[in-house]
Amino acid sequence: MTAQTVRSLINQVEIAVSAAIDRTLPEAAGADPVVRPSEHADFQSNAALALAKRVRTRPIDLAAAVADALRADGSTTVADVAVSGPGFLNLTLADTTVWTQIAARLADLRLGIGRLEQGRRTVIDYSGPNIAKEMHVGHLRTTIIGDALARVLGFLGAEVIRQNHLGDWGTQFGMLIQYLDEHPDAAWHSDDLAPGTSAVSALDGLYRAARKEFDADPGFADRARARVVALQAGDEGTLDRWRQIVAESEVAFRQIYDRLGVLLEPSDSAGESFYNDRLPDVIGELTTAGIAQDSEGALVVLSQEVTGPDGDPATLMVRKSDGGYGYDTTDLATIRYRIRDLHADRLLYVVDARQALHFQLVFETARRAGWLTDGVEVAHVAFGTVLGPDGRPFKTRAGDTVKLTDLLDAATGKARATVAEKDHALTDDDLDHIAEAAGIGAVKYADLSTSRTKDYVFDIDRMVSFDGNTGVYLQYAHTRIQSILRKAGDMATTVDSALPLHRAERALAFQLDAFGDALAEVARLLEPHRLCNYLYELARAFTDFYEACPVLQADPPTRANRLALCHLTARTLSQGLDLLGIAAPERM
Ligand code: ARG
Repeated sequence: MTAQTVRSLINQVEIAVSAAIDRTLPEAAGADPVVRPSEHADFQSNAALALAKRVRTRPIDLAAAVADALRADGSTTVADVAVSGPGFLNLTLADTTVWTQIAARLADLRLGIGRLEQGRRTVIDYSGPNIAKEMHVGHLRTTIIGDALARVLGFLGAEVIRQNHLGDWGTQFGMLIQYLDEHPDAAWHSDDLAPGTSAVSALDGLYRAARKEFDADPGFADRARARVVALQAGDEGTLDRWRQIVAESEVAFRQIYDRLGVLLEPSDSAGESFYNDRLPDVIGELTTAGIAQDSEGALVVLSQEVTGPDGDPATLMVRKSDGGYGYDTTDLATIRYRIRDLHADRLLYVVDARQALHFQLVFETARRAGWLTDGVEVAHVAFGTVLGPDGRPFKTRAGDTVKLTDLLDAATGKARATVAEKDHALTDDDLDHIAEAAGIGAVKYADLSTSRTKDYVFDIDRMVSFDGNTGVYLQYAHTRIQSILRKAGDMATTVDSALPLHRAERALAFQLDAFGDALAEVARLLEPHRLCNYLYELARAFTDFYEACPVLQADPPTRANRLALCHLTARTLSQGLDLLGIAAPERM
């Protein structure tokens, strides 16, 4: 197999129409050929309508002239062109062109998809859970969306640098460490815990207890404050405790990452503490440049672009009046570091939409400071909230945040029941395995398939359904094709491009051909749901094809061509699911 970029058919048609327009109407060179898939032909171009206005002719005459130019040009891309309506061009390709395209994609390891992000150094900030706190539903979207973007951009050739911005620093750790010291019997080290209980869950509980004591006991509050000072001053004993807490928490996060199948590794962690040493420089530069200014003892940046509800400029807190640094300061350091030290071309922050103002101010400040220049693209990849059945932000009945593990357990449990309902002879082990793949896939797909900026309701029953636009439906579609291929037995993929194309074969072939363009859209708009929609449409096109066109029973040459379509569909589905970070089991 080769690694050859195969230009999509629609793209080839665009090029042919553009060339014909250039020749017909040199003054319109470079105009958008406006080519779209069509009901009446393979594609339609509406270019003549807009262009005719510009050159004051009738659209129908211009369309006829472009059609003539297309016919005259030696290109074999468009086999048939017809003018219709007020000046549309209906464009049809030869069957052999379509079969040749399918063969070219099949022959390529990457399905003919090029690397349009080649060499673009892209930093993706995602997940970012907080140390000593359990990962909760609020970390689901950032982790899943960030990972899908890392996969898609990486596949398209970007040099992806993952950054897990752990919340691992702050006054809360002084309080927690003091509490642990005063309660030596409290178990939280994984060695001291019963199997199945996680250190981070124990720490989360102890943290709450510490908070209570802090509020109730002024003596403890004083000792806790002193401990914060010790931590910040780099007291070895305190730092050592803090390191243990971070390490234990990370082990627990890693278990969730493994279960979710996300790419994040220990070396991707660059938490808030990582930036401590850099903060003085950041502040120094902002002060020298006159960007940060004093405000009642604190150091702030006043926005020149955004005003608050009171009409005053929105502010970024650079240094609090007590001398402490917080979330704002650290993010000024992240952007500076990622541009100056990591040499990023593109910076993505996959963070909740409710932090929009924060990032707007960070980006504005970075521009004013001269860190963020025009050559660097930066985006807050914002996402909506996960809602509970009542349509409000998802909470437990008791009003607590929903733990991520509980959510995943519920989904895999439900998936197990759904898969078990379909009666087939699966062993318990197989069933467990499939339920895990289906349940996790269901949660991820439900999240990714929702338009990123929208809120959505976490509805497990719908997520694990075999019908509709769900992960399980796509996984199942993939297993069905695998089973056809197993029955066929023959793995050769020869395509006879002289055969006529059935209507349903044609629709499937065009859908298969559009995979690379769908990925390009995901990369451009940073919207994984476009890949989900693409895969769903692909699975449906396959179903239509399989209903209309017998595969195993067909005559040998037809059978071979149809098996080739099955092969390419299976590979496209599994590649697509993989780019979403979703497993594609062989059987379900
Ligand atoms: N730890 C933060 C939270 O839980 C998310 C961090 C996002 N990344 C960043 N660079 N601010 O909300």
